[in-house]
Amino acid sequence: MTLRLGDTAPDFEADTTQGHIRFHEWIGDSWGVLFSHPKDFTPVCTTELGYMAKLGPEFAKRNVKVLGLSVDKVDNHKGWVKDIEETQGSRLSYPIIADPERKVANLYGMMHPAHDEVYTVRTVFVIDPKKKVRLTITYPQTTGRNFDEILRVIDSMQLTDKFSVATPVNWKAGEDVIIVPSVSDEDAKKKFPQGWKALKPYLRLTPQPK
Ligand code: BEZ
Repeated sequence: MTLRLGDTAPDFEADTTQGHIRFHEWIGDSWGVLFSHPKDFTPVCTTELGYMAKLGPEFAKRNVKVLGLSVDKVDNHKGWVKDIEETQGSRLSYPIIADPERKVANLYGMMHPAHDEVYTVRTVFVIDPKKKVRLTITYPQTTGRNFDEILRVIDSMQLTDKFSVATPVNWKAGEDVIIVPSVSDEDAKKKFPQGWKALKPYLRLTPQPK
């Protein structure tokens, strides 16, 4: 199954390092990041899950819950978590799904058999409080992801939802944003009292609204 942006994220039940969950219920009114890694006790994954733990307060600030997944079993995850804490210096506060039967992995298209028939590739799904898929990313097994980028995209999407703005290339929180073309100049005057700089009629930059 190919999940596309705007699709409803499939619901599921799964065992995790923090007990059994129902996915939609677990997300509740928060945003969710569901990310897969290929295998416990492997080097790239160890660095990734440690860094994700370090980012915990950043995700919490944005009302985002984080959920990992691999095809290993809960006991494996629990043993490996100790190694992550020891080597990466960060304690995991988010749960990791144990998916030995690949139920969630198949539901979310995390198995890419031509890349690896047995283990999941590195996927990220960002899901909003309405349970819609808002971002999908897929990386090969040998490349660790840039999780700062996930935060950056969440910042952008949350601004879009609140203020009818888009964000330009390589934008970072605090920098100028773009007034979306569907907002007329007349409406923009009300929405963006601080004004804007129009490089073209369709390219209007305004300070990031708070
Ligand atoms: C790793 O996490 O280092 C890894 C896992 C599976 C394949 C390649 C690398």
